[in-house]
Amino acid sequence: MNLKTTPLTGSVGAAVEGISLSEPLTSEVFELLREAFLRHCVLVFRDQHLAPAPQLAFARLWGEPVVPALLSKLQLGEYPELVQIRTMSKELVSTEAWHYDAPHTPVPPKVTMLSAQVVPAGGDTMWSNQYLAYERLTPVMQRMLQGLRVHFRAVRLARSQGVAASDAPSAVHPLVRTHPETGRKALYIGHPDNVMGIEGMTEAEGRPLLNFLYVHSTQPDNVYRHMWRVGDVVMWDNRCTMHYAVHDYGDQERVLNRVTLKGEAPA
Ligand SMILES: [Fe+2]
Repeated sequence: MNLKTTPLTGSVGAAVEGISLSEPLTSEVFELLREAFLRHCVLVFRDQHLAPAPQLAFARLWGEPVVPALLSKLQLGEYPELVQIRTMSKELVSTEAWHYDAPHTPVPPKVTMLSAQVVPAGGDTMWSNQYLAYERLTPVMQRMLQGLRVHFRAVRLARSQGVAASDAPSAVHPLVRTHPETGRKALYIGHPDNVMGIEGMTEAEGRPLLNFLYVHSTQPDNVYRHMWRVGDVVMWDNRCTMHYAVHDYGDQERVLNRVTLKGEAPA
């Protein structure tokens, strides 16, 4: 195996070539992948055409698959650890907004992995580097954010699944979280619809700050935009990236098989 990792932008994402994810990996190769994953936060593997069973086998090398409660309707019958993301109307879709996966849960997943089955013209996914979003703040702002806690609520996801916003699950997490493996700090925020506020602050105090951090995090120089091809596998670190699913493809078919892996409580 001749593994080659190439950065996709100056900020986030790398393409990995010279590997077949459906074949067993040696511990040396896995360690190289792990290092690349921790460094680049998003790994792109082209031309893999991974079916559900090998996708789950590869995912299990990284951790324990989990299915967030609100997505149970999308589970694949034979592979309940796998969720199938299919075309939804633009009005209903919850993911056309910058977000971490499941910050409304006490223990959000650490990794999300998608395997592209059917892709439309369009339907790109973007990722932001939330380490850099934090590191590019001034030391004064960084100090100000220390110790703040954000109230997340899955308002958009609940709406997409026909659940009332008042019943949407919620959780409170540190606004600046420390990655348990790299020790680097990352901004933990999300789309204003899903972020209720900063604990102990009024709406008037917290909202402008959250809005600023959202815009600051998602500037073009902090983003990788992936144009999907059938057979792609993309995995990302859900402890230091936000992502955004562009919905520009109308009712064209788009099918991605998704696995998420159990994480740690943000700290
Ligand atoms: Fe997502």
